[in-house]
Amino acid sequence: MNLTLHVWRQKNSQSEGRFVTYQAKNIIPDMSFLEMLDVVNQELIMNGEEPIAFEHDCREGICGSCGIVINGYPHGGHRGTTACQLHMRHFKDGDTITIEPWRARAFPVMKDLIVDRSAFDRIIQAGGFISANTGVAQDANAILVPKQNADAAMDAAACIGCGACVAACPNASAMLFTAAKIAHLGLLPQGQPERHTRVVRMVEQMDKEGFGGCTNIGECAAACPKVIPLDVIARMNRDLLVAKIKGAN
Ligand code: SF4
Ligand code: FES
Repeated sequence: MNLTLHVWRQKNSQSEGRFVTYQAKNIIPDMSFLEMLDVVNQELIMNGEEPIAFEHDCREGICGSCGIVINGYPHGGHRGTTACQLHMRHFKDGDTITIEPWRARAFPVMKDLIVDRSAFDRIIQAGGFISANTGVAQDANAILVPKQNADAAMDAAACIGCGACVAACPNASAMLFTAAKIAHLGLLPQGQPERHTRVVRMVEQMDKEGFGGCTNIGECAAACPKVIPLDVIARMNRDLLVAKIKGAN
């Protein structure tokens, strides 16, 4: 396959970016999207040009680092698929593909397709943990967890922190990410002691980072490669209300 790419190039967070057009030649349909970018970068390096900077690590859909917007859709718009797991067979020979970084004030572009997602780290640092001593494995196993809660907690824990929810939301809201982390811990017995302070602190940090509010558009859940459902947001809002009534801070 031969493709035309319009790629966002930006030297650093201070400079202005622009789209640059490249040709991706002899792309094998079974290559992943990132392998296609590797081929383009190899050619750029051979020609003495600066390769396109993009983030990646696992390339297995589990680390959350490969966030890019492909033809206007975070991760390319295929349900439950990260950019690293998107394969070139979804495109046609001769296609033109636009590739951009996440666009959100709280995720400033660092270089080309790489954004600074440390705002997510600070939300987790604000309360996305438990401080109780959980003991050893058999102690944890001695605490019975209803199957329904364990399943829901595991589903929420599938969030890989990629930021596609923020990139997809017209408000650049981080509520799906924050709510997934809160649901993961809040559904388990070990997460109960800090349940109320956790939700208050994480939501406060989310607001402080400059993410927008949720207006129930649902683009976040549609773009989420881990298919985190919108109902985690409703759960977080209920928890926040109870926490505020109880005066948690
Ligand atoms: S909720 Fe989904 S889209 Fe948002 S950070 Fe987690 S995995 Fe990514
Ligand atoms: S590189 Fe890890 S999820 Fe894509």
